[in-house]
Amino acid sequence: MDEALKEALKESRPDYGQLIPELINTLVERRWAVLPDFFSPTLVAALRQELHQHARQDHLHPARIGKGEQETRRKEIRGDAILWLDGSTPDQRCVLDILEMLKQGLNRELFLGLDSLECHFAVYPPGTGYQKHLDSFQNNNYRRVTVVTYLNDDWQPAHGGELAIYDRDDALLAMVAPRAGTLVCFMSEDFPHAVLPTAIERLSIAGWFRVREPV
Ligand code: OGA
Ligand code: MN
Repeated sequence: MDEALKEALKESRPDYGQLIPELINTLVERRWAVLPDFFSPTLVAALRQELHQHARQDHLHPARIGKGEQETRRKEIRGDAILWLDGSTPDQRCVLDILEMLKQGLNRELFLGLDSLECHFAVYPPGTGYQKHLDSFQNNNYRRVTVVTYLNDDWQPAHGGELAIYDRDDALLAMVAPRAGTLVCFMSEDFPHAVLPTAIERLSIAGWFRVREPV
């Protein structure tokens, strides 16, 4: 294939009219899904650059676990530093717009009544991970659907940092390599999961579609 054509194909915008229904079908079937190349290499590269810049400027803060009074910092449990997306750059808005399309599809097909999306960048330094956990638990049950994507360029098996997804009986369902642009999506209440220790700095965006809190 012609080099220029190859480049053009690589840079072309994924067809969300096809990808989103595909993702939703898989979710209907088994409540978790992994789609490679969901975000374009161009968008991923721009986000990676933005995240590096934030990291250099010290904008990230250590992630915490639990909520309210239970909230604590336990680096051996969870080693990432995070920064919430606020839609302040075109690249963030692009991701948020694509995920908004996904939210509308989920509401239309699965009647989930999803309201808002909260999303953060995450940087896991070498040697860190995130022990097995659920994203939605007793005191925080407004998160209904988890989405995660990865920003590292050229991820290799030796780098580790896979996302292990389990069922409620602790059977391993999937080991997801954190490859650039892959989207992982699952029902937040159903799947314990863990980030295995990473050998190199691991960059990601994790997000949660939430239902409205009762007033
Ligand atoms: C999380 C999480 C998974 C990943 O941030 O809650 O589980 O692969 N992230 O980064
Ligand atoms: Mn999680």
